[in-house]
Amino acid sequence: MSENQTPQADIKILLVDDEVNITRALLRLFNDVEHYQVLTANSGQDALLLLRENQDCGVIISDQRMPGMSGVEFLRQARDLSPEAVRMLLTGYADIEASIAAINRGGIFRYLTKPWDDDALLQAVAEAAANFTLIQENKRLNALVRKQKEELEEWNKRLKQRVLDQTSQIRAKSDELAESNSRLKESFSAIIEALAGLIELHHKRAPGHSRNISELLKVMARRLKLDDLQQKKIISAGLLHDIGKIGINDRILGKSVADMTPQEYKEYKTHVIRGQAAIDRVPELRDIGEMVRHHHERFDGKGFPDGLKGEAIPLGSRMICAANLFEHKLLKYPQSEALDEALADLKGEWGPVLDPALRTALEEGAREIYASLNLVSEVSEKMVSPKELKPGMQLKTDLYSGTGVLLLKKGSVFDENSIDATRRCFKIDPFERDICVIIRKESADEESA
Ligand SMILES: [Fe+2]
Repeated sequence: MSENQTPQADIKILLVDDEVNITRALLRLFNDVEHYQVLTANSGQDALLLLRENQDCGVIISDQRMPGMSGVEFLRQARDLSPEAVRMLLTGYADIEASIAAINRGGIFRYLTKPWDDDALLQAVAEAAANFTLIQENKRLNALVRKQKEELEEWNKRLKQRVLDQTSQIRAKSDELAESNSRLKESFSAIIEALAGLIELHHKRAPGHSRNISELLKVMARRLKLDDLQQKKIISAGLLHDIGKIGINDRILGKSVADMTPQEYKEYKTHVIRGQAAIDRVPELRDIGEMVRHHHERFDGKGFPDGLKGEAIPLGSRMICAANLFEHKLLKYPQSEALDEALADLKGEWGPVLDPALRTALEEGAREIYASLNLVSEVSEKMVSPKELKPGMQLKTDLYSGTGVLLLKKGSVFDENSIDATRRCFKIDPFERDICVIIRKESADEESA
């Protein structure tokens, strides 16, 4: 049986009359009815004693005229003992007033007259029993609803707590993940920097080449309004674009393309594929590998390795190609006139070799970088040891470690991090000379103050 079904329990019926014959007659009448458990008493006092032991009594039928205690008085006291019992008064015609009083004082379900009609009495008691059962059922259901409500509230409370606990665990994990992700990104940038250092070390003939290119790419990417991720990838590709030259005979790399034999040129051209292959093993670097592969494609489709044409060449590759060619042109001229001459030299390359859409970004970007370097006329120069470095000082020349690894490019402005890195490197691989720095007027004033 489920909790919601009513159990078919016996209903206790208490019959009270001072005349034993009447209680016997009533007992006989009700005994045959299924689910009735009949109790009898012959005075109000006895009935109250019996009721104390049977407070779950469902129906009470009492005579009115009894010695010692009237039916009305008995029923009044019975109400305190068994408030839910349905009470009935059995009266003679002469007791109408008493019946009205009992009803008015409350608590009487019905009054019945003597002599009674058996069927009418059975019917009246059946209705009283049904009424009692209904009240009990109502009470049971109310208790059940209350209990379920309490359980639901408790369950909700526990669920809420669990959600809060899990949310805070997820938040902690997410913070942990974000932190480790940021550490990973930092390590990633540091690895790319380290690889760039290796490339520089290998190509002593073009010191700072990759870093100069990535510096120019940074300015171009900003001017082209590329998103942050794209900018980072292109700058990294600029740093790594010639990584495939590691492993190519140094004798070949020392020659200009025009001086190479067909066999040497063939080998030289493999550096773009070797470069891509080297970094393609790292899934996060695959886009960068694509840019590295195509940095010698020409806009007219006559480049290598795949002869891609126009916008089929990745944007990063087109930008590296332009920055690369500009950087080579720069080296042909004395420093004072290199910028204008190199830009003029490039004029014929926009279209056949370089993407004309990048021209403004490159020309303005190159001028921006040079303008920042030319501020030196307003400032003073000084040779300082790593210990004497201060934030705001600007490198006059490229800074190399004792064994020739490029640490910082000329024009870099020192901050706390780069000063720390420079001092650490000085301990590992000491420089031969002090560092030539430019001190801007504000920095110089601060220094002398
Ligand atoms: Fe190259």
